[in-house]
Amino acid sequence: MGKKTASGGKVKKETVKPLLAAARIQKRIREMGRQIRKDFPGEPIVLVGVLKGAVPFLADLARQIPGEVTFDFIAVSSYGKDTKSSGQVKLNKDLDSSIEGKTVVVVEDILDTGLTLQYLLRILQQRRPKHLRIAVLLDKVERRIANVHADYVGFVIPNEFVVGFGLDYAERYRNLPQVGILQLPTPE
Ligand code: PRP
Repeated sequence: MGKKTASGGKVKKETVKPLLAAARIQKRIREMGRQIRKDFPGEPIVLVGVLKGAVPFLADLARQIPGEVTFDFIAVSSYGKDTKSSGQVKLNKDLDSSIEGKTVVVVEDILDTGLTLQYLLRILQQRRPKHLRIAVLLDKVERRIANVHADYVGFVIPNEFVVGFGLDYAERYRNLPQVGILQLPTPE
């Protein structure tokens, strides 16, 4: 017998079950942007986006932070998906500019095991920023392995395979303006 959905029905084709509607995400991002500015009044803020998933969130968050904001990007990958829990992370693209003495907010679409951010925080902290904070749109608290906490969290979500708003399945769905749970077809 094939896998069934929570409701007991079989899934015929790949579907995305709504979890967070676009308007709800935008409302929360507005609040997060205001909070970040309130925490660092009058200071230039460097948003560091972790490619690729953070791009939609960073773009929207940046527009909700009043005052001086700049962007930079970093790209990392784990050494093979199966060995992710080993915590081995590889730096694929470094920042373009120095963050020494700067107020930095690392922007991520999702905090899962925390291994990626644990690695990033370690290397970024060595560069002596004035402040180093973390903003994540989604936090899968149940999956945490590393002791990492985000300073700004959009939504705590259950341990489901989520796509949309930057999150992909085989590179697809990143462009969805909402977040949903991916349901793969039930094998015949
Ligand atoms: C995702 C996400 C984070 C990381 C979180 O990236 O964007 O960077 O995984 O997982 P962790 O907390 O378990 O380390 P992914 O490797 O899928 O790359 P992508 O952003 O290019 O999709």
